[in-house]
Amino acid sequence: MAAQRLTFKAQLAQVSVPATSANLGAGFDCFALAFELRDRYAAQVLDEAIFDVDVSGEGADEVKRDKNNLVIKSMLRGFEFMGQKPRGLALRALNVTPHGRGLGSSASAIVGGLALARELVLGGDQYMSLEEMMLLATELEGHPDNVAAAIYGGATIAWMEDIYGVKTGRAVTIPVHHDIKAILFIPENHLSTTKARKLLPETVPHHDAVLNSSHAALLSIALTSRPDLLLTATEDFLHQRYRVDAYPKSMLLVDKLRAAGVAATISGAGPSVMVLHTASAGEVLEIQKAAPAGFISKDLAISRSGVE
Ligand code: HSE
Repeated sequence: MAAQRLTFKAQLAQVSVPATSANLGAGFDCFALAFELRDRYAAQVLDEAIFDVDVSGEGADEVKRDKNNLVIKSMLRGFEFMGQKPRGLALRALNVTPHGRGLGSSASAIVGGLALARELVLGGDQYMSLEEMMLLATELEGHPDNVAAAIYGGATIAWMEDIYGVKTGRAVTIPVHHDIKAILFIPENHLSTTKARKLLPETVPHHDAVLNSSHAALLSIALTSRPDLLLTATEDFLHQRYRVDAYPKSMLLVDKLRAAGVAATISGAGPSVMVLHTASAGEVLEIQKAAPAGFISKDLAISRSGVE
């Protein structure tokens, strides 16, 4: 978009972004889900050339508090895309999404930053559509799955497309069956997505690719109308086994739950484990008893909305 003069709003902008889980087993770099667990961000444009960052909650001791903060960097990319950057910014973040556990904390920061930038510009949605937010968020994140669910909510199918020579992240939402809920098993240890991606092979056996394609296709139906197919539809052949050395305890938990008929997967790049189910409250408590030492479990509803 050509450079243009924007009118910045003087007042505070506030947004919230859901935690997300990508892959859902067979849908590597494609499927994701948003949860009713939201990071909250507030920001204001400053006349002075300073970046005043305050973070509380999850990851507060780890995240940067200057212009290299991921929310600030994403805001600045959003402003640049719309045509003009403000001199300075104040940011307050209240994080509830655990960091480095495969629950979309970086997608939350990126989508939060882009949405704040849009909110801080008069008529911002005319300068950055949701499709353009998706393009920018994918550029910042490097892959499209978590950012898709963080933007649109519910369950999303994301893909990469070459549009006029630009690699673009695109996504559609699919309606999630109302009985489907999630249980997360979150370990204490962290795993960086960059490290987990380095463990993936360049090629996979054709037979595995065929099986994975059938399961990923089935996942669309399992999520929307046939939750009874979730166990088969979430069985992956593209990533989890290749990354097992990075999350051995999580993989053992996935295997144990799946052997008991529970649709468990590694959440995103790990090391959290996610279960998709339609179980009763009593059955949920039984499933949660599988949590090994060092893991906490959370029972979560699917968020029907994305950033808001
Ligand atoms: N699809 C990505 C991966 C998700 O598994 O590497 C990272 O959150």
